[in-house]
Amino acid sequence: MQDFNNKVAVITGGSSGVGRSLAFALGGLGAKIAVGDVDKAAMEQLRSDLAARKIEAIVEHCDVTNPASLNALADKTEATFGGMHLVFANAGISAGESGAMWEYSQKDWQWCFNVNLWGVINTINVFMPKLVAANQEAHFVVTGSGNGALLVYPDQPIYTASKAAVHAITENLHYQVTAAQSPVRVSALFPGPHVVDTGLFNSGRVRPQDLKKDVEGNASGISSVDDMKKMAAQWGIELQTTHPDEVAQMAVEGLRNNAFWLLATTPETDEKIRARAEMILTRQTPVANMVGA
Ligand SMILES: NC(=O)c1ccc[n+]([C@@H]2O[C@H](COP(=O)([O-])OP(=O)(O)OC[C@H]3O[C@@H](n4cnc5c(N)ncnc54)[C@H](O)[C@@H]3O)[C@@H](O)[C@H]2O)c1
Repeated sequence: MQDFNNKVAVITGGSSGVGRSLAFALGGLGAKIAVGDVDKAAMEQLRSDLAARKIEAIVEHCDVTNPASLNALADKTEATFGGMHLVFANAGISAGESGAMWEYSQKDWQWCFNVNLWGVINTINVFMPKLVAANQEAHFVVTGSGNGALLVYPDQPIYTASKAAVHAITENLHYQVTAAQSPVRVSALFPGPHVVDTGLFNSGRVRPQDLKKDVEGNASGISSVDDMKKMAAQWGIELQTTHPDEVAQMAVEGLRNNAFWLLATTPETDEKIRARAEMILTRQTPVANMVGA
């Protein structure tokens, strides 16, 4: 997609972090923005910040775990802007798990899979039929994570598992629209190349009451990128970070090239991906990689 002017972009989880940066990047190129999110305070802030930049936008309460809520976002977007050209299935959380997975609460698994996996499935089910029926140039972008899609980091098994499934779905979606000869393109967005400085490590702020943590002692103790930096420093690692605006810029460039992989890596990550492939091909026993190491 070369021209974003007057295109309509729907962004789930768009009131913070990567989604918020996407809203400003695309809005700055003339796109109309429809954000769905559950964080009331962040949504209020986003509304006024978008208005200050004169970006045409709606910011709606939309819980991606609930198909009816996504349908309402789709209806509101169509009623306001007449249709949509870009859909970002971006909402995601980290349940903040830590320690042995056999001691986790079911609620950690449920919340993470509800948002990260079912959120993507629900977004596909609500928006893909509309994009395919419109039969025009359009993009469906899924925010995945290299942690799960490309590598298996050992410290967040629930998150990693959810993102492994999300990537399998994204790649299959791409195969299916291609086979259907639809003009809709599918892309996999990987925020990075480093840990992205967003609210992801403080997802507990939007955790539903009925799925609150109920097991003592499995909280990672990390609630911000600064906390991650401090923890990494204890292991002698200087953690690099990426600003979400850089991720949005990388995504826009990739969309201009109709790229499937919206993926920025470092030579170190490339080496880990190569080593992983080699490990499988030579049947070596896996050895844990650490984030940022
Ligand atoms: N930050 C990173 O380093 C990183 C790395 C890889 C992938 N990601 C992915 O990027 C995406 C965006 O996360 P972020 O890092 O910008 O974090 P963030 O917390 O800043 O943004 C996530 C947004 O999703 C919203 N959200 C949470 N539950 C929701 C629900 N049920 N319905 C609708 N919205 C909901 C939150 O309110 C928030 O606005 C996620 O899918 C995340 O897994 C992030």
